[in-house]
Amino acid sequence: MNGSTRRFIAAAIVLAGCFTVGLSGRQAPAPPPMADQVFKNIQVLKGIPVDEFMLTMGFYATATGLNCTDCHVEESGGSWARYADDNPLKMQTRRMQVMMTTINRTNFGGRQVVTCDTCHRGFSRPNVMPSINRLYGSPAADEPGDPIEQAAGQPSPDQILDQYMAALGTPKSLAALTSFTGKGTYMGFDDAGKSPVELFARATGERSTVVHTPLGDSTTTITPAGGWVTAPPTDKPVPLMQITGQELDGVRVEAMVFFPATLRKSLTKLRSGLPQLLEDDSEVLQVQGNTANGATVTLLIDSKTHLLRRLVRYNESPVGRLVARVDYHEYRDVAGVKLPSRWTVSWVSGRSHFEMTSAEPNVAIPATRFVRPNLPQTLVP
Ligand code: HEC
Ligand code: HEC
Repeated sequence: MNGSTRRFIAAAIVLAGCFTVGLSGRQAPAPPPMADQVFKNIQVLKGIPVDEFMLTMGFYATATGLNCTDCHVEESGGSWARYADDNPLKMQTRRMQVMMTTINRTNFGGRQVVTCDTCHRGFSRPNVMPSINRLYGSPAADEPGDPIEQAAGQPSPDQILDQYMAALGTPKSLAALTSFTGKGTYMGFDDAGKSPVELFARATGERSTVVHTPLGDSTTTITPAGGWVTAPPTDKPVPLMQITGQELDGVRVEAMVFFPATLRKSLTKLRSGLPQLLEDDSEVLQVQGNTANGATVTLLIDSKTHLLRRLVRYNESPVGRLVARVDYHEYRDVAGVKLPSRWTVSWVSGRSHFEMTSAEPNVAIPATRFVRPNLPQTLVP
C-alpha cells in the first residue's frame, strides 16, 4: 500500500463516518455478496456481484442464441438451485470463457476486444465461412459498440444539451419540478398482458418503480446510497438483489432523464459524435459521456424536435460490454416539463414496455419508500 492509497482510505473512512451520522445512526448497508458466495457451483465467473452475474447470463444467451435451459438442466426452469447442475453446453461454456480471456490476454494486451459475440453473433455454432449473402445482400442494421470520439464539425455536447433542455421546458419549470408520482402500465417481453406500475421519484436521486405482477410486486429502488430489486422468487434468484457499480450508475442516469438538470451533471468527458439515423430514418445527434464508476452513456437526441429519443448505456464485465437501451416513444407535459410517458427498456435478458398514464408533480413521497427492506440476499430455494 503506498502513501496516497493510505491517505485515500483514511479520507474514505472520515467520509463514511460523516455519512453514517448523516443517516442519523442508521447502519451503513452491507456490501453486496459476490455471485460465488450466493451460488453453489461457480468456477470461472468469480468475484462479481449477483446483479452483474445475472447480466452475464443474459449476455451468454444473447451472444449464442441459446436459452437459459439449453445451458442448464431442464429442471432449472422451476428451481434456482438446479442451475448449479452441469450439462455439456454449460461445461463447454466455461472452457469458452477461459479461451476468450486467454485470447484477449495473449493477443490484445488484456483489452476485452474478443467476446462471445465476436465469434457467435447470436448463433450457437459460429459460421466458419464468409457469407455470400452478407457480401451481396443489404446489411442488417448493427449497433456500434465502441466509445465515440469527438467528431470534427459537430455541435458541441453543451450546444446539443442546451437545445434538449430548452425543448423540455423553461429553466424555471425545470428547476421547479422536484418530485413526481406516476401510474401506468408495464409489460415484460414474455408477459401475456400488462401489469399496473407505480413510479415514485425525487430530483434528489431517489426513485422507486413498483410493478404489480400477477405473481407479486417487483420493485426497483435507487437512492444516492445504493440500489436494489425485490421481486417474486420466479423472477430473481435472491429476495433482495443489490444493484451495483456501473449498472447502478446506469440505472441512475435512466432516472435522471426525468429530472434533466441533474442528468448533465452526472456525466463527465462529454463528446458529440456524427449524426445517426434511427430505424424510422429520423436523424439523431449523439452525445456520449461517462459516469463516476466508468459506465458509458450515449444520448441520442432528435435533430428536429431536440427530444431524447434513445439512451444507450454499457457496463464493462468479464464477458464483455453489458448493454442496455431505453427508447422514448412519447412525452407528456407535467407542470411545464416534458416527461417521457411511453418508453421501452431493452437489455441482454429482457425488454420492458412502460406507459405512464397519469403523473402528479411535486408531491411529498414518504421516506420509507426509499429505505432498503431487510430481506435475505441468499439464494431462494
Ligand atoms: C451459453 C450457456 C449459458 C446460458 C445461455 C446461460 N447460462 Fe447460466 N451458467 C452458465 C455457466 C457456464 C455457469 C457457471 C459459471 C461458472 O462456473 O463460473 C452458469 C451459472 C449459472 C447460475 C449459478 C448456478 C449455481 O448455483 O452455481 C445461475 C443462477 C444461472 N447460470 C442462471 C442462468 C439464467 C437465468 C440464464 C438465462 C438468462 C442462464 N443462466 C443462461 C452458462 C449459461
Ligand atoms: C474465438 C471464437 C469464439 C469465442 C470467443 C467463443 N466461442 Fe463459443 N464456439 C466457437 C466455435 C468455433 C464453436 C463450435 C465448435 C465446434 O463446432 O466444435 C463454439 C461452440 C460453443 C458452444 C457449443 C454450441 C453447440 O451447439 O455445441 C457454446 C455453448 C459456446 N461456444 C459458448 C460460448 C460462450 C458463452 C462464449 C463467451 C464466453 C464463447 N462461446 C466464445 C467459437 C468461439
